[in-house]
Amino acid sequence: MQYKQNNPIPLGKSGAYESVRSTIETVFDWQYELKKQNLLSLYEKGKTLAWNANDLDWSIDVDIERLMRERARAGMAGMINTLMSPPVALEDDALIEMQLHMNAFMLSQFLHGEQGALLATAKIVQGVPWEEAKFYAANQVSDEARHVEVYHRYLTEKLGISYEIVPSLDRLLDDIIEDPRWDVTFLGMQIMVEGLALAAFGITRMQMGDEPLVQDLITRVMADESRHVAFGVLSLQDLYTKEMSATELREREDFVIEATHLLRERLLMEPVFERLGWDVKLWTDWSQQTAFMTGFRQMMFSKIVPNLKRLGLLTPRVRDAYAKLDLLRFEHMKDSVEDPEVTPPDELVQLFMQFMQTAQPGPSAQAG
Ligand SMILES: [Fe+2]
Ligand SMILES: [Fe+2]
Repeated sequence: MQYKQNNPIPLGKSGAYESVRSTIETVFDWQYELKKQNLLSLYEKGKTLAWNANDLDWSIDVDIERLMRERARAGMAGMINTLMSPPVALEDDALIEMQLHMNAFMLSQFLHGEQGALLATAKIVQGVPWEEAKFYAANQVSDEARHVEVYHRYLTEKLGISYEIVPSLDRLLDDIIEDPRWDVTFLGMQIMVEGLALAAFGITRMQMGDEPLVQDLITRVMADESRHVAFGVLSLQDLYTKEMSATELREREDFVIEATHLLRERLLMEPVFERLGWDVKLWTDWSQQTAFMTGFRQMMFSKIVPNLKRLGLLTPRVRDAYAKLDLLRFEHMKDSVEDPEVTPPDELVQLFMQFMQTAQPGPSAQAG
């Protein structure tokens, strides 16, 4: 495991090391009663399907700027200006720069989220009472170390641009790590952060259809993530519908609503506009309000909503908050037990098909 770290990840406000106090109760399970078959079969799958970062073809030359220039030559600017209605019409150079940075921003936040998952899941090993869940969580911890490794290698060796953790994600990860209740660690990490990651990885993979290394990387990570989300759903099922008091349930509702707002904020991409030296307010307002960007953010919740529903957490209060964000349209999609893979919403697939067709130089572009 040796690679060139050409491009160190910038540090956020907390500096090189950030300490948060995690006050979980550590539980021994002296019964070793292995009876939760669904968790045991997930554990077997996890062990069998583990891969190595060295399995990826790191010799692939990654040149996103060249790919974006090819897309621009095929007339991408016209389409983006129509579709995304930016506050300032974008010429090819500005558009390429924006796409390079948005891609690097997304991949950097994936890296930071992976480190959060590594730490949160180590905490689950300690706090979850059942031995089967400790086994699976231990397996997930090693998946997460590998995910940190591959995203870090891609960003530092291949991409050349990266971003520090965005404050909203930093805060959510801190909340998850600091919370003393083991189910809230699951709810925050496996259901919210990883549920969003599954959708976000899927979207990035579609957007970067012409870059084979990131395709392979994301496909491998997504296969692991779908098991991690299923782990959360299987571990929490029945807990919220059968075992919790009204007060305890209300605290979980508050947590879900707060986490939803923090995850949405992370998708506004404010640091990208800052780094580009563009008018941050103008562009963040655009990101908040434009139909395309709003739709993009909503689709990130396409896996979270059905999973919350399965857990009995799509309660009237959460429904009310989600109705305001127009997220309830995903409630009838398949949850992670019915469909562990992420099936992107049809509207998203159609949109990206349209994008990619424009991006591929077709007969008319070549003729011109
Ligand atoms: Fe991960
Ligand atoms: Fe994960």
